[in-house]
Amino acid sequence: MSGATRLDWSSRSVGSLQGNIVVPGDKSVSHRSMMLSAIAEGTSHIRGFLEGEDTRATAAVLAQLGVSIEAPSAGERIVHGVGLHGLRSSDKPLDCGNAGTGMRLLAGLLAGQRFDSTLIGDESLSKRPMRRVTDPLAKMGAQIDSQDGLPPLHVRGGRSLHGIRYELPVASAQVKSALLLAGLYAQGATEVIEPHPTRDYTERMLAAFGWPITFSPGHAKLEGGHRLRATDVVVPADFSSAAFFLVAACIVPGSELRLPAVGLNPRRTGLLEALRLMGADIRIENRAESGGEAIGDLIVRHAPLHGIELPQMLVPDMIDEFPALFIAAAVAKGRTVIRGAAELRVKESDRIATMAAGMRALGVQIEETPDGAIIDGGPIGAGAVDAHGDHRIAMSFCVAGLVAKGEVTIRDCANVATSFPGFLELANGCGFALKLAG
Ligand code: S3P
Repeated sequence: MSGATRLDWSSRSVGSLQGNIVVPGDKSVSHRSMMLSAIAEGTSHIRGFLEGEDTRATAAVLAQLGVSIEAPSAGERIVHGVGLHGLRSSDKPLDCGNAGTGMRLLAGLLAGQRFDSTLIGDESLSKRPMRRVTDPLAKMGAQIDSQDGLPPLHVRGGRSLHGIRYELPVASAQVKSALLLAGLYAQGATEVIEPHPTRDYTERMLAAFGWPITFSPGHAKLEGGHRLRATDVVVPADFSSAAFFLVAACIVPGSELRLPAVGLNPRRTGLLEALRLMGADIRIENRAESGGEAIGDLIVRHAPLHGIELPQMLVPDMIDEFPALFIAAAVAKGRTVIRGAAELRVKESDRIATMAAGMRALGVQIEETPDGAIIDGGPIGAGAVDAHGDHRIAMSFCVAGLVAKGEVTIRDCANVATSFPGFLELANGCGFALKLAG
């Protein structure tokens, strides 16, 4: 991963982008499908599973805990669930790789087990704050030891958990999900209230696996003492991966791309609203439901963009899409102002600082603020940027290169494989000119 295999890419301007882009399965849904299948009773069949390093790390952790998982073909998993109390301890640390979602959700799941576990991660994950999950889990009776609230997390088993009512200080689907997973093992009711609704995949999937749960935007409540029944899961294509192609087609003249069957859960599609406010031409066709999730084909055509004051209410619904939005803003006419997005500073990298440094290196006018940025659209120059091992930043600068005045070199791209294996080939297939650099 980052550091071990250093991978640099270059991107340059191209004619136009055309084609049909089938993006891989949703990362959030893939993590959850693996965890719930593992602790369900019976055999679950997952289709569309993301073959990314993050989600494969979660599958490997569950296999280490005694779950038998078959992979008959790419994107397909057959998980032989062991039931709520069937996981077995591992004497080795459980490696979540680069995945914040993996570690935080597993912390909740493992807090209710009879055995101890240690969760570890790569260099980037080892710097990410974990108190946001360990503090509320401690209120439920869990004991999770860490140094300064950072991984590794030593999760003590054999604790009896009790439900709590918890008002999240920041909108976070990971924290909500960790508490709900611990709540499966707790006595009484676990109730989570969010300051702004976040993605509700855990709630929907728990219901699909037969666990009684009530939820509405910003609220979820369940009680311990039930069982999960194996079920089949169809994972939709990841909107967050589609996002790079949406921005790419918006900014490259003459482009038209179709992205079929993308997950359109409203808690994920904030970027669609933001780009439309900027003047983008994006249509949705063939709306349908798959595995309980809204999906549809996205058809995006080039359109001149203009800067906006991003409505703050959109921030949680596009929390992973800011690197892509920053590039759209750099190309847009006029000024884009982003506020209320301080969470970006604790993602796979400090996404405000990393994007600002890279954009400045390409001659873009950007002012960093504590919770966002002010970006003035204009020409993008040639140069070298450092993605700091952040997958979404690497892919965003690949998009920037499409309209740059010369070659853009993007350093430290190996972690693109955490969420989007095959990105380079897929992108080149529709007209990008990405190459290995150096
Ligand atoms: C995720 C929630 C978000 C998001 C992450 C995936 C999830 O994190 O950024 O990529 O699957 O629950 P936060 O909960 O920290 O906002």
